[in-house]
Amino acid sequence: MIPGDFQPQRPTSRQMVKLGVLGVVALGVFVAIVLGLTFHISAWLGQPVVFARSEGPDQPIAFPHTTHVQELGMDCTFCHRNVEKEAAASVPATGLCMTCHSAVGDDLDEIEKMRSLYEDGRSIHWVRVHRVPDHVHFVHEAHIRYFSEKDGIEPSQVCQTCHGDVKEMEKVKQVETLKMGDCVSCHKENSAPTDCATCHY
Ligand code: HEC
Ligand code: HEC
Ligand code: HEC
Ligand code: HEC
Ligand code: HEC
Repeated sequence: MIPGDFQPQRPTSRQMVKLGVLGVVALGVFVAIVLGLTFHISAWLGQPVVFARSEGPDQPIAFPHTTHVQELGMDCTFCHRNVEKEAAASVPATGLCMTCHSAVGDDLDEIEKMRSLYEDGRSIHWVRVHRVPDHVHFVHEAHIRYFSEKDGIEPSQVCQTCHGDVKEMEKVKQVETLKMGDCVSCHKENSAPTDCATCHY
């Protein structure tokens, strides 16, 4: 063989298969390490790293549930009017807020901000805190009805099962992961349907 005329040997198909298997194993190990680390970091911090935030998002108007529910004693269903009737609980239109705030809260920055949006006919774009993916179907009505009847409690007392103690929250945050496993295990406990089509389109 002349120097410089080096010709690499073509790998045999046997070698190719070995290389392929090695690649798959290496990928598997890598994924396992990443998942393992995620799990351990979550455990250290005592909360999921990827799935939830420690604080709720900032809202365009810093609306405090504490003031309205705890101090003023307003019922959840006063604002979340569809929660007993429909799939979505709904967040109230600014008009409802203005029944009080056209008179209440002069000189408070957040109220001034809200009034000027209202006068311009613009709505408040609240940042969603809880949201299931598009392929999932969730219905508030069925849950509120079932648990208020079963436990003999007010509709507003059912919310905390899934939303935590909102009346204590200056800023709403998600406290339950509300993953498929959470939904399905509660459905099993209460003999509610668990076939895929119940929750998936
Ligand atoms: C005065 C009206 C008012 C009352 C009363 C009220 N809320 Fe709200 N709620 C809002 C507004 C406005 C938002 C949107 C801004 C925010 O997230 O803080 C909201 C947001 C929420 C969210 C987050 C929605 C999302 O995006 O996922 C939950 C959960 C919630 N409220 C539950 C409750 C519960 C439970 C009660 C009763 C303990 C209650 N609310 C009482 C007005 C109200
Ligand atoms: C039943 C009357 C009533 C309704 C309806 C109401 N509020 Fe209030 N809100 C109050 C009162 C009373 C206060 C306390 C005002 C104060 O501290 O001077 C308050 C305080 C606030 C504050 C706190 C201001 C601050 O900086 O401390 C914000 C923001 C606010 N409301 C927004 C809203 C929004 C948004 C809605 C509609 C989803 C709403 N409110 C509906 C009565 C109401
Ligand atoms: C069984 C669990 C569960 C209960 C009980 C529950 N929620 Fe929810 N809530 C959810 C889930 C899941 C979402 C996200 C739904 C989506 O993305 O379509 C949500 C979303 C919301 C939202 C924002 C979106 C919307 O539907 O308008 C509000 C506001 C809300 N809930 C208020 C309430 C209130 C008030 C109560 C009590 C009267 C309540 N929820 C009871 C699970 C629950
Ligand atoms: C705390 C327990 C609990 C949790 C958590 C829960 N569910 Fe349910 N769900 C029920 C019960 C009980 C029923 C049956 C109500 C009835 O018999 O009318 C039900 C019924 C339903 C229905 C049927 C509604 C209808 O039209 O009849 C859907 C859809 C549903 N749940 C979706 C979900 C999804 C999606 C989640 C998770 C994000 C979830 N649920 C979490 C207890 C729960
Ligand atoms: C009680 C409600 C409920 C039932 C019943 C249910 N799911 Fe889900 N599923 C959910 C929710 C909520 C999510 C989104 C949250 C998550 O990813 O866990 C989801 C997510 C999924 C995803 C996407 C996972 C991902 O990582 O994105 C698949 C696939 C799925 N479900 C398949 C099924 C199949 C198959 C069945 C029937 C054996 C089923 N589900 C029954 C509530 C349900």
